[in-house]
Amino acid sequence: MEFFIDTGDIEEIKESYSWGVIDGVTTNPSLVAKTGVDQKTLIKNIAEIVDGPISAEVISTDSEGMLKEAYDLAKIHDNVVIKLPMTIEGMKACHRLSADKIKTNVTLIFSANQALLAAKNGATYVSPFIGRLDDIGQTGNYLIQEIRTVFDNYGMETKILAASIRHTDHVKASALMGSDVATIPFKVLKQLFHHPLTVSGLEQFLADHAKSQK
Ligand code: E4P
Repeated sequence: MEFFIDTGDIEEIKESYSWGVIDGVTTNPSLVAKTGVDQKTLIKNIAEIVDGPISAEVISTDSEGMLKEAYDLAKIHDNVVIKLPMTIEGMKACHRLSADKIKTNVTLIFSANQALLAAKNGATYVSPFIGRLDDIGQTGNYLIQEIRTVFDNYGMETKILAASIRHTDHVKASALMGSDVATIPFKVLKQLFHHPLTVSGLEQFLADHAKSQK
């Protein structure tokens, strides 16, 4: 399973990348807006740190506009993945980018049918938003399971990228449901390393070692 970090914050990317577990980065317009840096500069800066897929989202709502943005973004670095919204216009752009061998990540996926449509159009990744489904009283994890079943039924190669992850249980559930990738915010990523029994166990080992040296 691959882990991407879900942020535009360069310091978070640098630190988490040094932990060795990060395979790529996802951004979205809200995350880019928080950085105060323009999208192209940000993606260029990320590509200097991370050797792996970097999702950059288009903001046009028509396929021609999306394609224009996509070709510009794809020029920044070979690792750029074009993030497109799950709309008919987004799917038109996805179809074209797949034909041009440009990698895509179809975002704002909330149903297995939407994931199926994106896969039929050759999307490299689909991003089901599990946290936002939980927010409206549904169970986002089940969506990962449904998409896994659908893709496996037809041998579809599109990767499932679990997104909108809010806590460590989302990461575990995504892994159990067979997600190919989870994109994880920095805070949650850091929490994955923690267990209170690891902390107390290590304290005990160090205390015993210190006693044995006296
Ligand atoms: C990443 O690709 C998504 O844009 C992101 O995970 C959405 O997360 P949110 O629902 O917490 O905004």
